[in-house]
Amino acid sequence: MEEKKIKDQIDQTEKAAIDEVLIPTEEPQRQYYFIEKARRDLAELSAKAGRPLTFCVTTFGCQMNARDSEKLVGILEQVGYVEEPEEEKADFVIYNTCTVRENANQRVYGRLGQLGRAKKKNPYMMIGLCGCMMQEPHVVEKLKKSYRFVDLIFGTHNIYKFAELLATRLESERMVIDIWKDTDKIVEDLPVERKYSFKSGVNIMFGCNNFCSYCIVPYVRGRERSRDPKAIIREIERLVEDGVVEVMLLGQNVNSYGKTLEEPMTFARLLKEIEKIDGLERIRFMTSHPKDLSDELIEVMGNSKKICKHLHLPVQSGSSRILQKMNRRYTKEQYLTLVDKIRTAVPDISLTTDIIVGFPGETEEDFQETLDVVRKVRYDSAFTFIYSKRSGTPAAVMEDQVPEEVVKDRFNRLLKEVQDISAEVCAVHEGTVQTALVECRNDHDERLMTGRLSNNLLVHFPGDESLIGKLVEVSLDECHGFYYMGKMV
Ligand code: SAH
Ligand code: SF4
Ligand code: F3S
Repeated sequence: MEEKKIKDQIDQTEKAAIDEVLIPTEEPQRQYYFIEKARRDLAELSAKAGRPLTFCVTTFGCQMNARDSEKLVGILEQVGYVEEPEEEKADFVIYNTCTVRENANQRVYGRLGQLGRAKKKNPYMMIGLCGCMMQEPHVVEKLKKSYRFVDLIFGTHNIYKFAELLATRLESERMVIDIWKDTDKIVEDLPVERKYSFKSGVNIMFGCNNFCSYCIVPYVRGRERSRDPKAIIREIERLVEDGVVEVMLLGQNVNSYGKTLEEPMTFARLLKEIEKIDGLERIRFMTSHPKDLSDELIEVMGNSKKICKHLHLPVQSGSSRILQKMNRRYTKEQYLTLVDKIRTAVPDISLTTDIIVGFPGETEEDFQETLDVVRKVRYDSAFTFIYSKRSGTPAAVMEDQVPEEVVKDRFNRLLKEVQDISAEVCAVHEGTVQTALVECRNDHDERLMTGRLSNNLLVHFPGDESLIGKLVEVSLDECHGFYYMGKMV
């Protein structure tokens, strides 16, 4: 069959025949081949349009998705597309979607309707959809039925094939759909275009094996796979050569890094290796699951000069009963003991968290336990979420779903508690001098620059753009709840 296909191609034009015969089977070479191919097709289209064609990638969801979008942008730029920040003006719009909560999905459908209308006016326009939502079969069915104007649909497991899928779409008029159920493959060394010159996310692992009972991520991101430590170190070394001073190591559960490798390795050891990279100034990571946070890691954090003084440690609920139903595999007491241990080893660490309100069966007493944890830990900040039912997860079919008004009331009470505490906690650093990595010009006042402290808080201070990407000493003069006003010293 394969031979016949190749022979048929040879019988066509010679150029097409050579293309087909030479398609590499190994990655990433195969994708570089398709980048070239798409480049030729796009150049023809641009010539016809009489202008360069543009793209806009819109990212929903977490940092993992943000990093994936940088990979899409890397390929689009190599293919010859030019970035257009305004979605409505772009010739190729890609939504990198999230499905962790239902409202994320609704936003995508709403905006897709608007894009469909824009497409009618622009003959060169293409629409691509990828990311976690696409891994849900009912979503793809709905798109095939009611959103026929979408050009390209792919999932989270085959994002590395983006160049190939794009080349396929450029050569045909049909909707291209390619979704994989799961994968054990990790493709290294594809192009990527960073949003910031001085900092970068770095995937250290993909997928999740935890199956928290409310969460859809394990179903849409697949099984846990760790990247080879050598590939991670090599990537960071190259980033540093290219001007990066801060990396954010990314994984759904970084504390279980390395367990699935042929030569198992711990996250703490990986951090020690990364710390040795000359020129790298700051290391961040997310997310840490409390059940896997080891003493070894706490020790490494305590001794490190580069690991930032910030730990995001999602608690989800303060009730041990609810935590068990959530399949989090720790109790309220274990969580609080862990926090104490971390604070002893790294006294000035900033702690942040994620909390879900209204998990099925949550009573007022359970909710009081959550407030109790918030008061005891005194988080620097917390992301609070209303429980969202995700079909296919165990929690979706649990009894006692909590009525909406009750959840909203609890949510508001929680938010107030979290905000009051975080304003107090933030004020603790007022009057100190700290190192900030200068990230950008301030949005509201162009005389000011914005820098990020080791503890992840922002400080605004007078300065100019030449400071971007530099580490500077800033006095934190006034605390404004969630940020500081200061000056360079
Ligand atoms: N891997 C990370 C979290 C990824 S999702 C971890 O385990 O901490 C980010 C956050 O979204 C979660 O921490 C949780 O608080 C929230 N979340 C996940 N599923 C949710 C759901 N069904 N409803 C409401 N919030 C949810
Ligand atoms: Fe979801 Fe739990 Fe995995 Fe985090 S650890 S991604 S909350 S299943
Ligand atoms: Fe959303 Fe997928 Fe991240 S569901 S939170 S984008 S892993």
